[in-house]
Amino acid sequence: MSIMTSETCLVLSGKGGVGKTAVFSNVATSIATMGKKTVVMDADLAMANLGLVFGLQDIPITLHEVLAGKATIGEAIYAGPGGLKVIPCGDTIAGFQEADPAGLVEVIDYFKSRTEYLFIDAPVGVNEDIFLMLPHVDNVILIATPDLASMADALKMKIIVESLGCRIKGIVLNRVDTMNLDEIETIVKNTMELEILSVIPNDPNIQEAAMKMVPLVTYLPDSPASIALTRLAANIAGVEYKPMIKKAGWFQRQIGKLRVKGTEKYGPN
Ligand SMILES: Nc1ncnc2c1ncn2[C@@H]1O[C@H](COP(=O)(O)OP(=O)(O)OP(=O)(O)O)[C@@H](O)[C@H]1O
Ligand SMILES: [Mg+2]
Repeated sequence: MSIMTSETCLVLSGKGGVGKTAVFSNVATSIATMGKKTVVMDADLAMANLGLVFGLQDIPITLHEVLAGKATIGEAIYAGPGGLKVIPCGDTIAGFQEADPAGLVEVIDYFKSRTEYLFIDAPVGVNEDIFLMLPHVDNVILIATPDLASMADALKMKIIVESLGCRIKGIVLNRVDTMNLDEIETIVKNTMELEILSVIPNDPNIQEAAMKMVPLVTYLPDSPASIALTRLAANIAGVEYKPMIKKAGWFQRQIGKLRVKGTEKYGPN
């Protein structure tokens, strides 16, 4: 089997609800549409919700079934936009109880030889599953919102992760408005000693896309958060940033020719 260069990123946050799922479902979608073999996996075994971003509801086989030894990894892979592969996790109590987290290591190793990018959407804070996965990933990406509690918790995560000898790629600041940005950037760089990978604006379109159960970058590629998410994706993938545009249907093409003019298309087929 040919060995593929792969990057496995564990997405962590000290505080919950700061955008791990929203940001990295979109980043993964964006990298996939750039032609890279990309997988996004929900490793939040107790409170999974990555599948919802992609409209994957009521699916019989998820990571839970794989970890319970009832299904193969291949059976839990679902097609996302642009060639993205999505591994959702179930949300039933029975599924959670039957899943053996020890199998997470095998799942991560499975993708290392088969994908270029694996993003793992982790539970909030630290738990045994995170300790289990940390030695098997290439790096950690932290995410925080620009408030004191979230940043303080991100710093605690940095200390824990680094104490285990794991590499932190940097931090994503999410839901940022322009107020106090300079001050926040100074704290992150000088006090927390973390590289800022991206500053994603607070953008209500993220919630609108979530209601439609599609990633924002394909639903509204020119929204403020989409532009930042696509830039972050290009940065991670090491390719030149090009705006993603929505693949227009006939009606949109008739009324929206100006909108797509002059941009290059990445959009899913
Ligand atoms: N840049 C943004 N602008 C506006 N809303 C956002 C943004 N990023 C995330 N959200 C919203 O914030 C909420 C929490 O996001 P999300 O579920 O991705 O966080 P999480 O860190 O994965 O949470 P958990 O810790 O529960 O797993 C969601 O309603 C999401 O739509
Ligand atoms: Mg989440």
